[in-house]
Amino acid sequence: MKILMIGSGGREHALIKKLKESEKVSHLYCAPGNGGISLDAQCLPEIGPLDSEKILAFSQKNKIDLVFVAPDDPLAAGLVDLLEKNGIKAFGPNKRAAQIEASKVFAKNLMKKHSIPTAEYEVFEKSADAINYIEQQNSYPTVIKADGLALGKGVIIAENFESAKAAVNSIMEKKIFGQAGKQLVVEEYLSGPEVSILAFVDGESIIPMVSSMDHKRAYDGDKGPNTGGMGAISPNPFYDEKTSQYCMEHIFKPTVRAMSKESRPFKGCLYFGLMLTMEGPKVIEYNARFGDPETQVVLPRLKTPLIDIVLAVTDSKLSEIKIEWDDKACVCIVLASGGYPGDYEEGYQITGLEKLAKLNDVEVYHSGTSIKNGDFLSSGGRVLGVSAKADTLDQALSKAYSAIGEIKMKSGFYRKDIGAM
Ligand code: AMP
Ligand code: GLY
Repeated sequence: MKILMIGSGGREHALIKKLKESEKVSHLYCAPGNGGISLDAQCLPEIGPLDSEKILAFSQKNKIDLVFVAPDDPLAAGLVDLLEKNGIKAFGPNKRAAQIEASKVFAKNLMKKHSIPTAEYEVFEKSADAINYIEQQNSYPTVIKADGLALGKGVIIAENFESAKAAVNSIMEKKIFGQAGKQLVVEEYLSGPEVSILAFVDGESIIPMVSSMDHKRAYDGDKGPNTGGMGAISPNPFYDEKTSQYCMEHIFKPTVRAMSKESRPFKGCLYFGLMLTMEGPKVIEYNARFGDPETQVVLPRLKTPLIDIVLAVTDSKLSEIKIEWDDKACVCIVLASGGYPGDYEEGYQITGLEKLAKLNDVEVYHSGTSIKNGDFLSSGGRVLGVSAKADTLDQALSKAYSAIGEIKMKSGFYRKDIGAM
């Protein structure tokens, strides 16, 4: 099979490395990919994730058997619809189903209608109405969410009325997220441990993957701004068997059924961002795709060939497959460029990677690297992730930290407390 991966991050690198393990996969392309990915797939730097027509033309010309659409925006823009209309198999939800991530208003209304546990909320189209509501509620912190995709920055947790008002105004009046802020959700603040569950869904059946936990804040002690994710661990120590059964019956299956009932059957990877509150697990968000860096700790534990599962999803045969997992724990530490998630400089040399190549159960996934004269250079905010597997979480942590300690990059930083509760 010839596969074309869409995207350019650590998540895509992990998917590619896993797909490559199968003999069924003869050739892998990645559009656009990055320097590190180019060691494992043929990168197409001239094709961006939103270049739908170019992706279609390339797939037709090169007789691609499957296009794997990993990032959110091409899914929301309908890339899968375009490919399928032209007879090309694609992994990922179509545009209607991708709304579950692309519109928070859609997702919240879906949960309310189908009694799926989530935070209480109201939807607003006018800033004055939202501000009035917040003033009347007079309960802080309160959570303000732009409706659409906002590069992971669309959620603001406001500690008082002034900051809530400022958040509403910046979304609706200053339009900092553009059209994504045409509507917003004001939501009840929940607390409790967070859990990420990625699940394979074929329209009807759902098979959750092993659990994970993401660390979103930039600095140790959960300080600093939100990022795309600075590290992850799997399994999530808070997610026990009882919680998993509850989520299956009250959240996972009902969500898949709800999407079918709404004539938006979901096919692909559905990501459940959950919070384990005192009242039980609740949905914080859905993503219509694999998470980053969750993928980098979940896939190393997958024993069943990924390509077989991907085909079971696209062919709606998930109920016929059994998925096996490694009992080992896995940890991923992300190396980021100084300044990230704000402004940062690029083009710094990364050294020490060759020392990691010899280590067992250690993988390096490239998020933002380029290659120049045989050297790796940084080319993004998140530069790479080092994943390590071991019998226990503690052992996996020591292994990952000792591995990433070998890597040197000017201005590079990583969190020293991944996995700390
Ligand atoms: P999201 O972009 O939806 O993943 O939200 C980013 C982060 O904001 C989540 O991982 C949570 O930590 C936090 N968050 C979102 N919604 C809530 C809520 N209702 N209560 C408390 N924290 C929340
Ligand atoms: N790690 C969170 C996400 O992928 O959205």
